[in-house]
Amino acid sequence: MKVSVIGAAGSVGAPAAFHIGMSGVADELVLIDMRPNVVQQHAMDMSTAMCELGVKVTAGTHEDLVGSDVVINAAGVPQGLIADRMEMLPKNIPLVRDVALAVKKYCPDAFVITATNPIDPLNYCTWKTGGFDRHQVIGYSRNDSTRFREIIARLKGVATDRVQATVVGEHGSTQVPLFSSARIDGAPLTFTDAEKQSVLAEIPTILKRYEELQSGRTAGWTSAVGLAVLTRAVLQDTKEVIPCSVVLDGEYGRSGLSVSVPVRLGRAGVLEIQEWDLAPDEQPGFEKTVAAMAAAARIVDDNLGAAE
Ligand code: 2OP
Repeated sequence: MKVSVIGAAGSVGAPAAFHIGMSGVADELVLIDMRPNVVQQHAMDMSTAMCELGVKVTAGTHEDLVGSDVVINAAGVPQGLIADRMEMLPKNIPLVRDVALAVKKYCPDAFVITATNPIDPLNYCTWKTGGFDRHQVIGYSRNDSTRFREIIARLKGVATDRVQATVVGEHGSTQVPLFSSARIDGAPLTFTDAEKQSVLAEIPTILKRYEELQSGRTAGWTSAVGLAVLTRAVLQDTKEVIPCSVVLDGEYGRSGLSVSVPVRLGRAGVLEIQEWDLAPDEQPGFEKTVAAMAAAARIVDDNLGAAE
């Protein structure tokens, strides 16, 4: 199975490519980046690292997308210090547009994962630019649910692998952690108002704490694990339900935007978009995040219209 990673010299793309190759999800990796010397170096190094696994790793350009089963787009302009991922939208639209056109030209049937921030409007941008089937294009947001599970595990004093919990909505400041989805070993969990407030207060500090370190990198290792989960679900047809940003067409009563909701993934891409019943206290947050992602999608529409 061939997986191509665009932005493969970056702090999300490189770990994602490495983890996907090392975990047996792909037997061919193509690494593409605007920095040819850096990506060539990654390709040489990964090729040797994976030589006993039979994984072919090469550096390439958009032409080498031909034959890709999955394309991960992690390319983005250097982020600098941001307070909100949405700040990156105008800067990254042209880049994501170019990638979508390249995918359309060289591997129109590939499954595409948008991992460039802001994920939701840029996944919408990929879908719209390429004219893809909406079941073929998702945005990566799983880190939010992983972090939610981690916070709950700490709060309840259990190991994170025993906690199930899902975040929906924007991969960003209006995300909606679904306390109603939280389980320990499959058993429903209850939260006091104070517990909920402490979780809700912690979530916005996560990006801030990363940014304050001014390291020039982002959550590459967490993203690598999650991107491998998504890629495996598609290539190995696992049919898992995973929160992903997906273009809605009537689900949750909305259309014309991409936002994270639970989706079932398999070899044909998005097999099902699940419409979960949200708790009454989760509904206003969902309305708010959907409205914000619809507004962001209109910014994409305007930008794409101006570029034509
Ligand atoms: C994340 O939250 C940085 O958007 C990236 O993992």
